[in-house]
Order: sequence, then structure tokens, then C-alpha cells
Amino acid sequence: MTTHPARSDAFAQGTPVRLWEDGFALDPYAYYAALRAQGPIGWAELAPGQSAYVVTDRRAALDLLHDTGSFSVDPRPWERTVPEDSQLLSMMRWRPNCLFADGGEHIRYRQTLLDAFDLVEPHDLRERVHRSVDILVSRFGPDGEADLVRQFARPLMTLVLNNLFGLPDSESGRLEAALGLMMEGGEESAAGEAEYGKYVMELIAVKSARRGDDLPSRLLDHPLRLTPEEVTWQVFLTLGAGHEPTANLISNALSRILGNPAYYSTLTSGARPVMDAVMEVLRYETPLSNYGVHFARRSMSFHGMWLQAAVPIIISFGAMGHFSERDHAGTHHPHDASHLSWGAGPHSCPVKQPALLIATEAVERLTQWLPDLRPTVARERLQWRPGPFHRSLTALPVRFTARVPDQAGDRA
Ligand code: HEM
Repeated sequence: MTTHPARSDAFAQGTPVRLWEDGFALDPYAYYAALRAQGPIGWAELAPGQSAYVVTDRRAALDLLHDTGSFSVDPRPWERTVPEDSQLLSMMRWRPNCLFADGGEHIRYRQTLLDAFDLVEPHDLRERVHRSVDILVSRFGPDGEADLVRQFARPLMTLVLNNLFGLPDSESGRLEAALGLMMEGGEESAAGEAEYGKYVMELIAVKSARRGDDLPSRLLDHPLRLTPEEVTWQVFLTLGAGHEPTANLISNALSRILGNPAYYSTLTSGARPVMDAVMEVLRYETPLSNYGVHFARRSMSFHGMWLQAAVPIIISFGAMGHFSERDHAGTHHPHDASHLSWGAGPHSCPVKQPALLIATEAVERLTQWLPDLRPTVARERLQWRPGPFHRSLTALPVRFTARVPDQAGDRA
């Protein structure tokens, strides 16, 4: 094995694999291999001194995700064991929402979300995505250069979500700033979380006073009668759960397309559709790479590992995509879903079809406006943000022929 400065002794036998260190963002597959070498379930650190089991085997993941009798998603027993300032808490702290609820409570929360999103027609969502892409291209299009992470994928998701949640575009900058601070982690993350909480509370206050044709109004009026506080928590979850992974799905797909002439030259002819690139991302570098946090209800043996209660078990969607690709190279149908990137079982992503539509429409619309996007940094030299949970580019710089979307002759 070559020596890697960022992961000096990370793979020493008997020590947990440190998913928090910088080397993980540089080469996640080496870390996944080290975890897999330990068996279907490996032992890792998500933050210094804070350990978790990590499932890298598909069979074990499916068994776990479907076994609600043995496993719970309630993190409160674990929370009592970690320092109050643990940086894991922003992603793993209990809140009264569907991600952290089991059984009947989970069904109640989840059903409201499913019903609310069910009323978003695909053609309407498509329009909203196009409108948001057009706003962003009109901002950076005249410059002839842009960072497609900071100026496109991330603000696009705040524009689309802010719009679906029924606020004017002018509010999306505020949402973007708050989520940005919160997701970056570090010292500002608590301030970001507080500002994000304020945005959501104000949103629910506005919708409680006056309903609109939007998701929070549908949640408030749902026959399962969530209280305004419960609606606030579902919205808090949904905006956050939707923004980060979908923005990363878009930028990861763009980086594959722009770095690969075979894709890019056929984009306009449709020979290799954008959906193929999105599917490739779900297999090779899925945006939510390690999550699906569960806890054994009592200490137990599972797929050869003794699992202790109150210790997080993380599903490595990233590792599973990687191993499925390695073990079945060339035999996958392009849209094969053995990657499990949407999760499985009762907590699997309830919004995967809308998320796929948003990602593919965003890339298609952007490349229609700017058909000669050229990356200015080779794909192998792109930087990825550190952190155990995501596969997320720091920047995707491009150049293109300057363009203003509403100039004469442009498409509507
Ligand atoms: C508009 C975009 C999205 C929204 C609103 C959304 C929302 C949600 C919500 C509310 C849950 C919790 C479901 C439950 O506990 O019953 C969830 C779970 C999940 N989502 Fe999404 N999501 C979006 C996009 C994505 C994307 C792009 C990915 C990755 C490709 C993703 C992957 C997942 C996974 C793996 C889970 C299961 C997590 C677990 O088991 O703890 N989601 N999503």
C-alpha cells in the first residue's frame, strides 16, 4: 500500500477506520476497502474518539434496514454517551421527525410527507426547476465563468425548495446562508442551525396564518392532524434532507459529465442521457455516502459482529455502490439500483422520484443554456469536502461562452 500523509496509521489492524480524517475525502475507496476487510460490518470513528459500526455488505444492510424489531432509529440512548459539543449531533441528534421515529409515530409523520409531495406534479416541478436554473444562469451567464457548486447546484436547491415551501425567491438567499453555515460544520455551524430554525419557524407562522399552494400548508391541513410544532420539525428535516444530497447529486453528476467527452459530446444528441450520469453517481460517489443511522435495541450478534446497544450503526451506501460495481463490473443495467443509495425499508427516501427529476432537469437545462461548459480543473484534481457522511465537491470551476438567457433568439 502506498503511504498517504493524510491517513498515516488509519488502517492499522485493530484500530477503527477514521472516517473523519481528511484522507477519507481524498480516497474514500481505500477506507471502504479497509472497512470491508473487517467483514460485512466494520468498526470506524465518525469523529475523534466517537465510534460506530459501519455496514458495507448489501445483504447485512438489507437485513438491518428491514428489521424494525431488532433495530431502532431513536438516538437518545447514544446521545447520553457523547459530549454535549460533539460535532456529530447536528446530523444525529434526536428530533421529533420521521427520520428519528419508529413504528406508528414514524408512519404518521412519513405519510404526511408522502401525501404532501404526491401533490407536486412532475411537470410543475420541472417548470420550477427550469425557472430556478434560468435565474441562476442570468446571474453568472454574462461572466463566462462560474463555480457550479457555489453558484449553481447549492443555490439552485435553495431556490427550488424555498419555492416548493411557498416563500418568495427573495427569501432563498437567507436559507442558503443558514444551511451553508450549518452544513460546513465548525464554529459557525451552531449559528447556522439557529438561523435555519428561525427561517423554518417564521415559514410555519406565515403558513399558519395564511395557507398557500405549498408543502407546509398541505402538512398543516393533513387529516392526520400534525400540530404546528410537529409540522415545523418535519419541515426542518425535509428542507435539510433535500438540500444537501440533491445539490451534491447535481454537482457530482456535472463533474462526471464535464470531465468525460463521451458524455458531453452526446448530451445534446441524447445518446447518453443525463440520467445515466446521475445513475453513475448513485453507484460510484453517492452524495449521502454513510448514513441510515440505526441502533441495536439490545446487544446482539449480527452478521458475525457483536453489536452493542446505544452505539450507532451506519449504512455505507458509498461502500456498497463501490463494491457492487467492482464485483459485477460490466454486468449492470445502467439503471440498476443495487447501490441502495436511497436506503431501503421503512425509512428509505420518500422523495427519490422528485429528487431524480430535479437533478436531471437541472443538468439538462443548464447544458442547454451553456452548451460549451469546460471544466478548468481536471476531475482527478477536484477537491472534496471532508466529513464522514457525504461525498461533496468543494468547487466545480468552469468556463463557457458568456450568455444572457433572455437574449433574442433564446429558448423560452
Ligand atoms: C428533494 C430532495 C429530497 C428530499 C426532500 C428528501 C427527504 C428525505 C426524508 C424526509 C427522509 C426520511 C424518511 C424517513 O425517515 O422515513 C429521507 C431519507 C433518505 N434519503 Fe432523502 N430526500 C431527498 C433527496 C435525497 C437524495 C438526493 C438522496 C441520495 C441519493 C437521498 C437519500 C436518502 C436516504 C439514503 C434516506 C434514508 C436515510 C436513513 O435511513 O436514515 N435523499 N429523505
